[in-house]
Amino acid sequence: MFLKPMMATVVALGLALPAMAQEREFRLGLITPPVHVWNKEVDAMSETLKERSDGRFSITAFPSGQLGNESAMLQQLQTGALDMAWLTTAELTFRVPDMAALHAPFLVDNIEDAARVLRSDEAREILDTLPAATGTVGVCYAMIGMRQMVLRENIDSAADLAGKRIRITPAPAISTFFEMFGAAPAPMPLPAIYDSLANGQIDGLDMDYESIINFRYYEHAPHILETNHHMFGMVALISAPVWATLSEEDRALISEVTQMHCDRTIDRFVTEEDKKLASLREVAGIQITEDVGQDFFGDIVERWDAEWGAKTSYVARLRELVASF
Ligand code: BEZ
Repeated sequence: MFLKPMMATVVALGLALPAMAQEREFRLGLITPPVHVWNKEVDAMSETLKERSDGRFSITAFPSGQLGNESAMLQQLQTGALDMAWLTTAELTFRVPDMAALHAPFLVDNIEDAARVLRSDEAREILDTLPAATGTVGVCYAMIGMRQMVLRENIDSAADLAGKRIRITPAPAISTFFEMFGAAPAPMPLPAIYDSLANGQIDGLDMDYESIINFRYYEHAPHILETNHHMFGMVALISAPVWATLSEEDRALISEVTQMHCDRTIDRFVTEEDKKLASLREVAGIQITEDVGQDFFGDIVERWDAEWGAKTSYVARLRELVASF
């Protein structure tokens, strides 16, 4: 006589469970603060995903390294403790040496070509190695623009970098660039930079216009050399254990929506790069040295390629690709 109510419960649960199981709020970590273009695009991505999934999916962002630095977030993705993250290509080079090729000095000399590299089949192939190397699925690349030198005191030649402590995003390939001039690269996560600069612990930074503006680094390092010495990419990642729980249809939907917002991020950086430089020109006290090209750095490309070209064939492949543009 208990059968009927029990059956009713089972049937009710049976009907309710699949619908409930499909609803999901994905947790997405980033190192950048809420004002940053990446964060705004993640908010927009959450809206698109809600709309396209009829309200089943949404994304909650954890900005400013709240969940730890990028290396900690990568570990959380690997175990499934974190669902998604937008991480720098620099961080991924520790596990995926091929990605170091994207940081080759003077691989491209403008942001439009940086976008073309990030959208290339060659760059896409590197993403295909992520599940095995990192336990994550790399859905797409985006970017933060080109990197410039931001210095406390001006320099007249690359040789003047000798002995200077320059903050870099942790990544061996970026360290190599500065070490080749006798500088002391100081790997440090983004949220730690401002205080180190204010305390005089570092002499300069390897940085992009968006971050220079957002974090007002010029208050303590007012000399900007427009070097465009490497491009700075980002990868939109999904935890592989989380990916494994999704249906084919949901994977396709999430991939499509993520790709759309990666593309928008790239397009925003491409169209806004010049305006950002122009806005920095208006800030009192900043000295900008424009068009500091590859020649300023002597034979750095040959030297860097000799070291990193031995570690990954993508250095030569990406140089060939860019030569074909
Ligand atoms: C950095 O480490 O310099 C960085 C990381 C993410 C976004 C922008 C800059």
